[in-house]
Amino acid sequence: MKNSYDLVVIGGGPGGYEAAIRAAQLGFSTACIEKRIHKGEPALGGTCLNVGCIPSKALLDSSHRYEATRHELAEHGISTGEVAIDVAKMLERKDSIVKGLTAGVAGLLKGNGVDWLQGWGTLLDGKGAEKQVKFTAHDGTETTITAKYVILAAGSVPINIPVAPIDDEYIVDSTGALEFKEAPKRLGVIGAGVIGLELGSVWRRLGSEVVVYEAMPEFLAAADKDIAKEAGKLLKKQGLDIRVDTKVTKAEVVNGEVVVTTDVKGETKVEVFDKLIVCVGRRAYSEKLLGENSGITLTERGLVEVDEQCKTNLDGVYAIGDLVRGPMLAHKAMEEGMMAVERIHGEKAQVNYDTIISVIYTHPEIAWVGLSEQQAKDKGYEVKTGSFSLSANGRALAQGEGQGLIKVVADAKTDRLLGLHMVGVGAGDIVHQGMIALEFVSSVEDLQLMTFAHPTVSEAVHEAALSADGRAIHAIQRKKR
Ligand code: FAD
Ligand code: NAI
Repeated sequence: MKNSYDLVVIGGGPGGYEAAIRAAQLGFSTACIEKRIHKGEPALGGTCLNVGCIPSKALLDSSHRYEATRHELAEHGISTGEVAIDVAKMLERKDSIVKGLTAGVAGLLKGNGVDWLQGWGTLLDGKGAEKQVKFTAHDGTETTITAKYVILAAGSVPINIPVAPIDDEYIVDSTGALEFKEAPKRLGVIGAGVIGLELGSVWRRLGSEVVVYEAMPEFLAAADKDIAKEAGKLLKKQGLDIRVDTKVTKAEVVNGEVVVTTDVKGETKVEVFDKLIVCVGRRAYSEKLLGENSGITLTERGLVEVDEQCKTNLDGVYAIGDLVRGPMLAHKAMEEGMMAVERIHGEKAQVNYDTIISVIYTHPEIAWVGLSEQQAKDKGYEVKTGSFSLSANGRALAQGEGQGLIKVVADAKTDRLLGLHMVGVGAGDIVHQGMIALEFVSSVEDLQLMTFAHPTVSEAVHEAALSADGRAIHAIQRKKR
């Protein structure tokens, strides 16, 4: 085993493995240290590939097909007879997708000449020109490695709350909620955030009665208010019982059931579930990552402190992804990994944090980029908005997906687009049009003047832009221009 590299990455999640590949492309001798064992095997890909983005999307897809087959085919004149589910097979499919992808990442590292060191990495000392990293293999063997540069990419883990201790059987976190052997009859979820809505939707579609407890008074506070309102309406109609302003004060397992006590504006309620998912956010994972003399500064919240370019307080040491400020998203981690390496290489790479897209993969999807109406107002813009309902979009209706809306937020003085928001079919893809428009500093007029193909759901972007000036064609608008 080599014990000296140009660059060592600690953490092989989307941030870390992309950084390692980019480093190798740029000619650095590179090692990526990853300690994860997934289902008995060492695995790259981090939270995202093993227990996050990919397995959740596999189950979202399977459960959506089940629901659509049961409830949506009849109106097309297609009859199916009785539709049954085999949860074990769904989980098997999910696992084989995960395995294929993580093996693919291992192949990419190998093909690019990156050494994957299977075990724990600890930054012992990052202060001098030769950084010291301790590598602890799974068998306990320790080696000290030196490197000119180190990228910390250790990611995050779920937050645990003392009122609902995880036992991995009845009370689970997001990882446990990807492994239920069958749909629990009664499923409680603490936290109506991204995981609560996605995994709550999976098990509801597969037959669970789902109650989602949210401590905040507002549903989906991070989203534009109009989008959150529409999304809340659609999800509730599907059967997700979302209770805002509700604090869980106790959850305990009694005779094989989870007894949940809540406080709703001072009133105590007790409900019983077969399983409870706790998904109240994630925290940076820096245990075992930093030795006593690493020299790295952490923030009050335990994140590694970095500047806009992901440089820590130490020269030659960068930190990226869930370990640092900003949204905990795989695509943000990936871009930061590439930026860090390119900066080390002397280039002027920069992530545009103003255009990081958010997507919630419910059906329909909820997605946005840029500023919400409220955020734009708070920043002092004189705001104009335009929106368009998918109930008047021909393609969405032809697909049986005429629900939801698209909204544009713009600066009324300059016409500059500030944000694009959507709840509706394919929102996660369509919102990329907004990202590209924002990157190119487009005006609303730019979107109005472009020719969108007919019939597409994207036409609703065009109509939302037209509507910002009272010019939507497939909606009655009195304002004229
Ligand atoms: P991670 O993916 O967490 O990877 C860090 C890796 O470092 C881990 O594998 C860990 O084992 C390893 N590590 C930690 N410490 C050490 C050490 N000392 N030595 C060696 N190795 C170490 N994001 C999206 O953008 N889209 C989604 O659809 C999405 N869905 C999600 C669904 C779920 C259920 C969850 C839980 C998360 C989801 N996320 C999603 C978030 C996404 O998974 C994370 O933002 C992303 O994985 C962060 O990447 P990262 O590289 O920073 O960290
Ligand atoms: P989250 O931050 O999205 O949502 C947590 C929710 O729990 C919040 O609404 C919060 O108000 C609520 N909450 C906190 N404490 C509570 C309590 N004691 N009782 C009731 N409610 C409480 O966190 P989540 O869903 O755990 O996801 C973690 C992160 O993973 C996300 O922030 C996101 O970055 C990432 N993720 C991204 C996905 C995507 O991009 N599609 C999918 C899943 C996760």
